[in-house]
Amino acid sequence: MKTRITEMLGVKHPLQVGTMMHLSNADFVAACANAGAFACMASAMFPDEATLRNELARLKDLTDKPFGVNVSLFPGHDARSVDVTLDILAELGVKIIETAGRSPQPHLEKIRQNGATHIHKCARLRDAIKVDSLGVDIISVVGAECGGHPGMEDISTLVLIPEVAASIKAPLFAGGGFCDGKTLMAGLAMGAEGVIMGSRFLNTDECRIHASTKERFIKAGLTDTMVIQRSIHSPVRVLTNEWAMSIKTMEERGATLEELLPKLSGQRSADSWMTGGDDAIFPCGQVIGRVKETLSIKSLVDKIMSEATEVQKRLAAI
Ligand SMILES: Cc1cc2nc3c(=O)[nH]c(=O)nc-3n(C[C@H](O)[C@H](O)[C@H](O)COP(=O)(O)O)c2cc1C
Repeated sequence: MKTRITEMLGVKHPLQVGTMMHLSNADFVAACANAGAFACMASAMFPDEATLRNELARLKDLTDKPFGVNVSLFPGHDARSVDVTLDILAELGVKIIETAGRSPQPHLEKIRQNGATHIHKCARLRDAIKVDSLGVDIISVVGAECGGHPGMEDISTLVLIPEVAASIKAPLFAGGGFCDGKTLMAGLAMGAEGVIMGSRFLNTDECRIHASTKERFIKAGLTDTMVIQRSIHSPVRVLTNEWAMSIKTMEERGATLEELLPKLSGQRSADSWMTGGDDAIFPCGQVIGRVKETLSIKSLVDKIMSEATEVQKRLAAI
C-alpha cells in the first residue's frame, strides 16, 4: 500500500505504532521499524542528555529502517527544554520529528533546522487546520476513544477524521480506536493516509510492561476505560481502576492541581507497569477491549496488513 505518508517517511506500511511514554525506547521502536511500521522514540523518557544520545545510537544500531523521535510539548513532560532536545536531534541527524501536546509554532525553526520531516499530533479539527497553515508536513489527529490525551471536545474518530481529511492539505495520520486490518482500512477510507495504533501494541512481546499488566488488558472490556484530568484541562484516557476512580472523585470535589499532581505521576505509572502493580494510572484507549492476544510486533504487523489486504479485496468485490 502506497500513500503520501508511506512515500514521505519511506516506510513499508501506512501504519504508525503510537509513541508511548516510558515504553517507546530503542528496542521497541526498532522492532516496529524492522516490521515495516513507523514508530517514534519518546525523547522525554531520557531526561539526561548523555542517555538520550546513547539511546539514539542504540536505535541506529538496531535498525536501518526509518524511524522518528517524539518531542513532547506537554508542559512538564520533558525535564529538558524543547529547544535543547531539538538541537540534539538536529546534531544527531534525526530525519523525522513528531511533536504533540501544544502548538509547535514557537519551535518550527528549530524543528526544521536540519530539514527534518515534521509530524504534529493534535486532537481538534481547529488545531489540525492551524498546523496545516503553518506548513507542518504530516498531521496526526486522534479521536475521543484514544489512549493517552484525547482533547477536551469528545469527538469520536469516525466523526473527526473525515472532517479533518477534507479540511487540510497535509497528509493525515488517524488515531483513536485502530487495532487491526479492518480499522486500518476504515481509516484510509475516511481520508487518512496512515493510521496510528497505540493501545494495541501494549500487548506485544517487545512492550516492556509486566506480563500480569498485559493479562489485565486482555481481560479488559470495551467499557473499562475512563477519562480523568478534565478538571485541569488535560484529559487522559486510562484503564478504570481504583487509583483512577479516586482521582475522578478528587476532581469532582474540586481538588487543585497541586493536590492532584502526586496521584498523576508518570514515574509511578511506569513503575507500576513494569512490576504489575495497580496503584497508578495506566493510559489506554477504548480499543483495549478488542485486544485478545499478545503477539510479537512482527507477527502483529503482518497480521494487521494481511487482514487489511483481505478487506481491500472484499471491498473491491462489492
Ligand atoms: C500508554 C500510552 C502512552 C502514551 N504516551 C504518549 C506520549 O508520550 N506521547 C504522545 O504523543 N502520545 C502518547 N500516547 C498516545 C499514542 O501515541 C496514540 O496517539 C494513541 O494511543 C492512539 O490511540 P489508541 O490508543 O486508541 O490506539 C500514549 C498512549 C498510550 C496508550
